[in-house]
Amino acid sequence: MIFKAPAGMKDILPEEAFLWQNLEEKARKVFTLYGYLPIRTPEVEYSSLFNRSLGQETEVVKKQMFLIQREEETYCLRPEATAAVVRAYIENGLDKTNQFSKLYYLGAMFRAERPQKGRFRQFHHIGVEALGAASPYLDAEVIALAIRLLDEFGISGYQLKLNSLGCRDDRKRLSDILRERLAPKREGLCPDCRDRFNRNIFRVLDCKNEGCKDIVCGLKLECADYLCQGCLKHFAEVKERLDNLGLGYSLCGTLVRGLDYYTGCVFEISHCGLGAQDALGAGGRYDNLIQELGGPNLGAVGFALGVERLLLAAEGHKAQGTRHKIKVFVVTLGEEARKKGFELLDKLRRGGVSCDMDYENKSLKGQMRRANDLGAGWTAIIGDDEIKKGMIALKDMQAGSQAEISLDNFVEEVKRMPGD
Ligand code: HAM
Repeated sequence: MIFKAPAGMKDILPEEAFLWQNLEEKARKVFTLYGYLPIRTPEVEYSSLFNRSLGQETEVVKKQMFLIQREEETYCLRPEATAAVVRAYIENGLDKTNQFSKLYYLGAMFRAERPQKGRFRQFHHIGVEALGAASPYLDAEVIALAIRLLDEFGISGYQLKLNSLGCRDDRKRLSDILRERLAPKREGLCPDCRDRFNRNIFRVLDCKNEGCKDIVCGLKLECADYLCQGCLKHFAEVKERLDNLGLGYSLCGTLVRGLDYYTGCVFEISHCGLGAQDALGAGGRYDNLIQELGGPNLGAVGFALGVERLLLAAEGHKAQGTRHKIKVFVVTLGEEARKKGFELLDKLRRGGVSCDMDYENKSLKGQMRRANDLGAGWTAIIGDDEIKKGMIALKDMQAGSQAEISLDNFVEEVKRMPGD
């Protein structure tokens, strides 16, 4: 029997893993620049957390949760991190000790979707949550940070779409408008959307069915039709801050996001090179969620970028992982030399020198080839003669030149050589 990774989940082999590391390192640097601190939450949560925060009628909760039933409890593999970070914020009392917290995370998320290009069942988020403040400056900071990340990753050709869903009352007004405008077109909606019309009308706007998309396009939604004065002002401030930072965006009245917790300003960043799954990332404000999960009434805003899609979008933009090369490859000739070489390897590593040796009984030629493949700057060649003389031959792989050095000084000499 040949075992395979589960559908929609993939192995990331070293060549590609270098690209991931590169992306993650860049992301951590940018998060630090913006004053965000790392947080890690479990990959498994009680499923009730997501039922409550994402909404019972969302696709994610209805169809995509990986559920685990164990001893009377229902857990799930986290489909996203926002609800988990809010839970952690409240559970650990950050709302009391550090009311305003700027947090970032990188990690795996799980949704049982139909796999296709850019859509996986295990995928990865790079995201932030700024919890405990309602300032429009923070919305602008979070959006600017998402864009900065894309720039840092060398991705261009993306589009930033903005909308505002407003506060609870505004959302209610928006849902009334949607009901009124969709009612005459109800028969043209897909069966799922006819159901959504009654249960959660916002979800009609996320439907991927072509007929539904056409109907939604014709709705001509304007946020001025349903936003209160306060929310209009907040949204205008966000836009002004983005204008001042020189960040371009387009307004999109039908952008409501597929999760129920959003309020106020929401955004999505899409990329035309990605095909059907064109969202590189998305986020927005969720001012009711902290309170809904048992915390104080405090605002919050955040976003998540999908790593797999970032890498797809970066493909055309010379994304490069830094493949780490070793400094020294220790070539051993004979059993005694192998023992000595193994000890030297340990001394080199303790001295902070990256190195490796042969474990496959390769010939001298085979070992030199392996040294080359590993990008070694130097090979240290040791055989019975060298051991007797207390010397070792060190070859510069670039120049081809070779010198003999004393085994006693070997580690110190190698540390001084260029090529770390
Ligand atoms: P989301 O829009 O569900 O938002 O996911 C964010 C991004 O994750 C998407 O734009 C996409 O790039 C990527 N993504 C989502 N599902 C998949 C999948 N099946 N395969 C590959 N990539 C995927 C959230 O999850 C919110 N928690 C974002 C947020 C943070 N809002 C506020 N704070």
